[in-house]
Amino acid sequence: MRISFRLNGKDVTCEARENITLLDLLRGEMGVKSVKKGCDQGECGTCTVLLDGSPVNSCLILAPQLEGREVTTVEGLQEDPLLRGLVESFISAGAIQCGFCTPGMLLSAYALLRDNSNPSADEVKRAIVGNLCRCTGYVNIVKAILNASERIRDE
Ligand code: FES
Ligand code: FES
Repeated sequence: MRISFRLNGKDVTCEARENITLLDLLRGEMGVKSVKKGCDQGECGTCTVLLDGSPVNSCLILAPQLEGREVTTVEGLQEDPLLRGLVESFISAGAIQCGFCTPGMLLSAYALLRDNSNPSADEVKRAIVGNLCRCTGYVNIVKAILNASERIRDE
């Protein structure tokens, strides 16, 4: 089938199998490698992207669902001050170890802080509940997101 959608601010049209997931489309056909394949069944959040601005597991989205939609990955937010602030906070708080969960974690945090610049620790935890990290134990990730929210409010 032929589908047209926006990917990181650009219109794209491609031929895709009806049963291909957005995750496989991005990684296999479009070279978007920040989006990681972990469980491939909606459990780990490493494949998180923003679909029309909301975090979703791209392994659960099929090609026909993309028509006319807007998909954003960290590649599309490299110049975005909020994403950049989050990356800096993750680095300084020691919230990245192997980095496998990081792009998805950043997108969930991005969506939270875009809509709420002063979240509580519980709100941060709820926002990343679908993003598993096997390395850090989450404490530094929550700290990084709270630090990033402070930076936004100070700017
Ligand atoms: S790869 Fe999609 S949720 Fe794990
Ligand atoms: S830093 Fe390794 S999975 Fe999160």
